[in-house]
Amino acid sequence: MNIVVMGAQWGDEGKGKIVDYLASEAGVIVRFSGGANAGHTIVIGNDKYALHLVPSGILYPDKMVVLGTGMVIDPEALFGELAGLTEKGIDWAGRVLVSDRAHLVLPSHRRIDKEMEAGRKQPIGTTGRGIGVAYGMKSFRDGIRLADIDDPERLVNLEAEDRAFLDLYRDRLLEMKTDLVAFLRKRRNAYVLFEGAQGALLDIDTGSYPFVSSGMSCAAGAAAQGGIGPRGIDRVLGVFKAYTTRVGNGPFPTEFSDDSPGSLQAFIRDTGNEYGVTTGRPRRVGYLDLVALRYACAANSVDRLVLTHLDVYDELESFETCVAYRLRGKLIDDFPASIRDLESAEPVLRRFSGWKTSIKSTRSWEELPRQARDYVQFIEEFTETPVSLISVGSDRTQTIVRESPWTRS
Ligand code: GDP
Ligand code: IMO
Ligand code: MG
Repeated sequence: MNIVVMGAQWGDEGKGKIVDYLASEAGVIVRFSGGANAGHTIVIGNDKYALHLVPSGILYPDKMVVLGTGMVIDPEALFGELAGLTEKGIDWAGRVLVSDRAHLVLPSHRRIDKEMEAGRKQPIGTTGRGIGVAYGMKSFRDGIRLADIDDPERLVNLEAEDRAFLDLYRDRLLEMKTDLVAFLRKRRNAYVLFEGAQGALLDIDTGSYPFVSSGMSCAAGAAAQGGIGPRGIDRVLGVFKAYTTRVGNGPFPTEFSDDSPGSLQAFIRDTGNEYGVTTGRPRRVGYLDLVALRYACAANSVDRLVLTHLDVYDELESFETCVAYRLRGKLIDDFPASIRDLESAEPVLRRFSGWKTSIKSTRSWEELPRQARDYVQFIEEFTETPVSLISVGSDRTQTIVRESPWTRS
């Protein structure tokens, strides 16, 4: 059974926590997009892990994890991360594989990423990890895949610095090399989780272009770049927060304008610890945007939603959510492609009552306060998509399961 877990907003929805939670029942976890721009956090008791490249199933001692074909992998970042796991007592030897068709991020890519950002009149706010350049080189057909690194003819055009860099990591990378399509073909009956990075609105095609990342963070990315075909996907889970966050630049219709101490934005940022895992940047915050979420569901065949960070609203008297946009005097309820339109779109908000009690230790749907259930049910009706998991805290155990995604319907 193949389940895709993807972000349904602008990233940082809690994918790492959810993949880790579901991985207890999976045999293999394949990350299918992005690179070290991602930061996936997993909290188990007093231990906190921040993963950037390594798939989120690695913390279980018996799981195989694969860095998929759609990823762009910086070997320095990868081996740094693995060393960090070793320090925390995680034995990953023999359990981390890398698709031989995955592309590598080289020092020149990181440099050019920063130079291009500095030269842009409207910077994207990239993470500076060389991501867009590595994907660009891939499209130009000048990229370097893992399969190429022991083929001198494929490396002749590289700068000396990039070649020396590969020399440092070649042997260790080759030990992890795998043919992902063949690997999964031989495990047709396995339970496989496909872990997305970024989110639907940062996807190169369906996101808020050009303020996006450069990979396929859409569900289809799991098929094209995760080693299976589109009909191999059994279920798509879209992870979203009770509110919305965004790091980096670009339009964000429900963003709060007030960022002063004591504002709702400052409250949510502090309560939800909304600071980037990769860059430490404060995340921009706003209400949940149901127009954007419904668009993400439709563009990705999301058949189950996963709501996270519901606990962050615990203390609020009331809150709002966006159900339409007002654009040049007209009401619209579809997510526009035009950046100008998205920038001008004013959210039409609907108010909900808060529950004013802690739900952090709630473990069942029935125990949730009525106001919280009303909010979830409204989201389900608006998006026409059931919410099957609800996260009420960062810890692995702070999860409410309404329906296990591993159960075949
Ligand atoms: P990802 O990139 O989608 O994996 O998400 P990040 O790890 O970048 O950001 C999510 C942050 O929220 C992390 O600090 C998580 O530990 C935390 N988190 C995840 N789920 C919840 C939740 O339900 N409630 C709260 N309060 N925090 C959560
Ligand atoms: P996870 O997997 C949030 C954003 C950057 C920037 C834009 C382009 O943790 O959800 P890039 O360096 O990729 O060229 O930057 O994309 N971005 C993310 N925002 N979460 C992420 O990953 C992101 N990965 C990239 O902030 O706006
Ligand atoms: Mg993140």
